[in-house]
Amino acid sequence: MIRDAAERVQRLLGAVDDGLGSFGYTSRVRRAASLVELRRMARIRAPKAVFDYVDGAAEREVSLRSSRSSWDRVEFHPRVLRDVAEVDTSVTVLGRRYSQPFGLGPTGFTRLMHTEGEIAVARAAAGLGVPYALSTVGTTTPEELAASGAITEPWFQLYLWRDRGASRELVERAREAGFYALILTLDMPVAGNRLRDARNGLAIPPVATWSALAEGALHPMWWIDALASDPVRFATLSSQGGGAAEIANRMFDPSITLEDVEWLRGLWAGPIVVKGALGIDDVELLAAVGVDAVVLSNHGGRQLDRSPLPLSLLRPVLDAVGDRMEVLLDGGVMSGADAVAGVALGARMVLVGRAYLYGLMAGGSVGVERALALLAAETRRTMQLLGARSVAELEGMASFEPAALP
Ligand SMILES: Cc1cc2nc3c(=O)[nH]c(=O)nc-3n(C[C@H](O)[C@H](O)[C@H](O)COP(=O)(O)O)c2cc1C
Repeated sequence: MIRDAAERVQRLLGAVDDGLGSFGYTSRVRRAASLVELRRMARIRAPKAVFDYVDGAAEREVSLRSSRSSWDRVEFHPRVLRDVAEVDTSVTVLGRRYSQPFGLGPTGFTRLMHTEGEIAVARAAAGLGVPYALSTVGTTTPEELAASGAITEPWFQLYLWRDRGASRELVERAREAGFYALILTLDMPVAGNRLRDARNGLAIPPVATWSALAEGALHPMWWIDALASDPVRFATLSSQGGGAAEIANRMFDPSITLEDVEWLRGLWAGPIVVKGALGIDDVELLAAVGVDAVVLSNHGGRQLDRSPLPLSLLRPVLDAVGDRMEVLLDGGVMSGADAVAGVALGARMVLVGRAYLYGLMAGGSVGVERALALLAAETRRTMQLLGARSVAELEGMASFEPAALP
């Protein structure tokens, strides 16, 4: 009954929004001028606990801030007189051609941000021709994503569970559902200490506390959306309920070693990508057991605070394993110019997390599409301003200065 009423209210508000034309909210999402603007809209639209879950990071959030600001320390070296009327922004990653130098990294709990969730994100990615990775802690199953027809050959991100039989089953399900690459995330032996989540009491599924109800009054559109559709649940986790950290610590296996990576190598015939290794020695070990690519990532600052900056590691890692592995990178990307900087400095591709989630929170599928359209337009414009007609021509067009110690 509540769902029926919520659906009716949602339809009515949708009609009013349409009627307002360019003054309507959806139209404003479509006109957002930057990801910073979409983030601002997301902050107003979503309850504080949900916004903070996406926006926040671990401990003092030093890694989050330094990842974001690292992109500002890139200097571009443009060329002129190069006829940039046409530019080709495409890249080849893991043997597949993608239209942009950025892809959508795995993020958990996606339907919490907006119930259109993973399917809306995957559809927007496919529409643009970029990869999308479904998370182990997704709110849509691999089979549901495949059946939706939103995207062909998505990537699947795996956290290894304590129960190896269940991990194997999950990997097999992803393979049967047509997933192309397997991303194994290694930087979560235990959950990072995310203070905003602890303070906000974020729980999955959401719990109706007095403060949640008060928050609801401030963010009615999020609640109407939540009440008008299927409840948010973990799609593949057998263990439901609790805070994000609690669930991760209960399910994920802190005893994982290189042998487990070798075991997975035997299970998965397609490309294997490892995400979250931040030491040259570790990357060398992973290359030796046949891992195809590494994502230099500190999980957007959400795990070990004050961990190495992916951008600082890029050159040394390329020098060490660049001939044996593809090297991708993520963290703090908030514009297409950041993505161009990443590939100009040698990354095969740059992944984004929060950037598309801000869009999703701000306006569901319309918001994700806007986020991706902004990233693509910024990528193209930056390449034209640089005088680069292709990603290969970006080589040498950017330099990065690690920060001096204060
Ligand atoms: C809300 C949220 C949920 C995430 N969930 C996962 C996850 O389930 N698996 C994973 O490997 N990484 C996860 N990440 C990390 C992202 O894949 C990526 O490393 C990070 O977001 C990059 O930084 P950025 O958000 O600044 O782009 C998550 C990130 C966010 C913001």
